[in-house]
Amino acid sequence: MIDFTFILHRGKINPQTMFHKSAFNIIFLVIFGFRCDYEDMILKQLIHLLTQIAKIFNGPWAMVYDMHPIMKHLPLPFQKAFDNVESAKIIISDLINEHKKTRETGKPRDLTDSYLDEIDKRANDGSSFNETQLIYNAMELQFAGTDTTSNTLLTAFLYLMTNPKIQEKCQQEIDTVLEGKEQASFEDRHMMPYTQAVIHEVQRIASTVPLSVFHKTTRDTELMGYSIPKDTLIIPNLDSVLHEEGQWKFPHEFNPLNFLNEQESLRSLRPSCHSLQGPECVLEKDSLVWRSF
Ligand code: HEM
Repeated sequence: MIDFTFILHRGKINPQTMFHKSAFNIIFLVIFGFRCDYEDMILKQLIHLLTQIAKIFNGPWAMVYDMHPIMKHLPLPFQKAFDNVESAKIIISDLINEHKKTRETGKPRDLTDSYLDEIDKRANDGSSFNETQLIYNAMELQFAGTDTTSNTLLTAFLYLMTNPKIQEKCQQEIDTVLEGKEQASFEDRHMMPYTQAVIHEVQRIASTVPLSVFHKTTRDTELMGYSIPKDTLIIPNLDSVLHEEGQWKFPHEFNPLNFLNEQESLRSLRPSCHSLQGPECVLEKDSLVWRSF
């Protein structure tokens, strides 16, 4: 990202494009084992398709579709999202086929190789590991991680630009902990409570996925005294949790103190919505998103 900024320093930069490309590329590296050039057509096409899908998913027509899936075949604006999923599937399928040409069984270079090894190992045991699933998984990871990370980073930059004192305090903490080291390790973060609180606060204020991802009960369920029948659509209102009065010291302003206690350590929070969700629920929801196309 720094190289990219450097190359463009004389021109104008759209930070959103920059963040999309870098977030996309990191996930792409995990899946396919290499980074794309920022001008690469595959990267540009996939980002374009995925961001358009996200816009449609978050728009009013997606709500209409969720309420009445029977409308799937009508020529309404969400058809564009279906078309984009098909186009993305073709690009990803080509990438996987290309990958197979240089693959050595048992020597995985990335997630695709590992998954292909697993398909080989489980051949004929009736498992759900197969190439179609691999295409969906790759799409899901790129889709779930690109827009979300990019939009959160945009929010971080916006609030840090407009709160130079907070930015300065993070810089001081990072400089003190790193003592001249060029890169921070994952463990270093434990010594940076203020910076961590800023990151959490950015995520809170950004509320990047305000209604989370829709879930559906797979059986009649009792939760905290409520009876929820099988097949109920559950829409978690994360935005309300993130701004709930009484839960946050400053629910409506950007303030890292929301995540710090009196000793300036990270505050422990009450269990979040995430811990209330069972893994099967989450997985089923995730499959539903793509299977509905
Ligand atoms: C700031 C960035 C991100 C935000 C705000 C975010 C937010 C969310 C939310 C709210 C959910 C729904 C959780 C639930 O329903 O229980 C979710 C699920 C998911 N996210 Fe993220 N996410 C981010 C980054 C990423 C990245 C980088 C990846 C992958 C590379 C990713 C992959 C996924 C996947 C695969 C799921 C579905 C999980 C499952 O079905 O078990 N997300 N994310």
